[in-house]
Amino acid sequence: MLLITGGLGYIGSHFTVVALQAGYEVVVLDNLSNSHAGVKDKVEQITQKKLHFIEGDIRDEGLLDGIFKRYAIEVVVHFAGLKAVAESVAQPILYYDNNVSGSLNLLKAMQNNKVNKIIFSSSATVYGEPKYLPYDEQHPTNPINPYGYTKLHVEHVLHDVCASDEAFAAITLRYFNPIGAHPSGLIGENPKDIPNNLMPYLIKVANTELPYLQVFGDDYDTRDGTGERDYINVMDLVEGHLAAIEYLANTGFHVFNLGTGKGTTVLELVSAFEAANDIVIEKKIKPRREGDLAKFWAKADLAKKELNWEAKTSLLESCQLVQQL
Ligand code: NAD
Ligand code: UFG
Repeated sequence: MLLITGGLGYIGSHFTVVALQAGYEVVVLDNLSNSHAGVKDKVEQITQKKLHFIEGDIRDEGLLDGIFKRYAIEVVVHFAGLKAVAESVAQPILYYDNNVSGSLNLLKAMQNNKVNKIIFSSSATVYGEPKYLPYDEQHPTNPINPYGYTKLHVEHVLHDVCASDEAFAAITLRYFNPIGAHPSGLIGENPKDIPNNLMPYLIKVANTELPYLQVFGDDYDTRDGTGERDYINVMDLVEGHLAAIEYLANTGFHVFNLGTGKGTTVLELVSAFEAANDIVIEKKIKPRREGDLAKFWAKADLAKKELNWEAKTSLLESCQLVQQL
């Protein structure tokens, strides 16, 4: 049985679907700080399977202990976290508390209940200013914002826990830029506020909820001057987690990049989105966004070699507007 923290969020809900479909029994813990209770019904509708949902916080020790006592959890898949970079700069304590203290609390409850397998959602943001590209897992880590530091801190804790306990297995997955939605259109990326990220913002422009896309900078050192990223389809991303669960048979601490290995600029993504949906996106060039890196993408060979996983979905498919949220 899996405990999926943050399992009603964007990536967590897609993972919950594939985990149920793969035959796992699932307990989802989510405090709904950035998701909606209705996602549970959508996941059940897609899979025609039931999941156990607990509304609550990973910082609640008593609650976590109760979950481990009540359910025979074997593996924790830990998505719960706050992820808005600018908010992490403005409210670092909130971010360290939620992401770091929350994860420590989860690990304490796991240890107390003899659960020793975890998959952790980390981010390409831990690498910081590229010393070389593509980033491989050996690239130095040097986050440029508090959000990135929260991810790196948890990685270090997991590393140290594995060093202290030879039966422990922890896999850190460093995601690049997840986009897209489940083909049913029933779940997808549906942030509670105005989106920070490019793809959900584009979707709101396409739906006429927002008037135009702001392109943050066109004077970067890239093909067309706009920022370049590695956009990975969310269904591919969550398949990587299923492969990682199998890999937990290997004890110790492991890190894998989950990306496509290809960079795409903002203007290239907009063109793909326009072509995939036969629409025109209004856009305006704006100044660079503070804290943005010009370009980065993944070397994803290690995941291919060790997890036998690679991203398969094309950019055009990932851009197809399926969301009915
Ligand atoms: P999301 O906000 O959609 O999902 C996170 C979920 O965790 C939400 O449902 C939220 O309500 C829940 N949550 C947050 N704090 C919690 C707490 N203290 N207790 C219980 N539940 C809590 O985000 P997402 O895009 O699905 O990201 C999932 C994970 O992947 C996060 O840890 C994020 O940092 C990481 N990540 C995301 C991206 C990305 O671009 N989406 C990239 C790299 C890493
Ligand atoms: N961008 C725009 N307009 C927008 C939003 C973004 O032009 O409205 C540009 C950005 O300047 C950047 C690119 O689109 O060049 C991608 O920006 P996102 O905000 O979508 O993604 P980031 O690469 O900045 O960051 C995301 C997550 C981080 C995570 C990182 C790597 O927000 O948490 O991917 O995984 F760490």
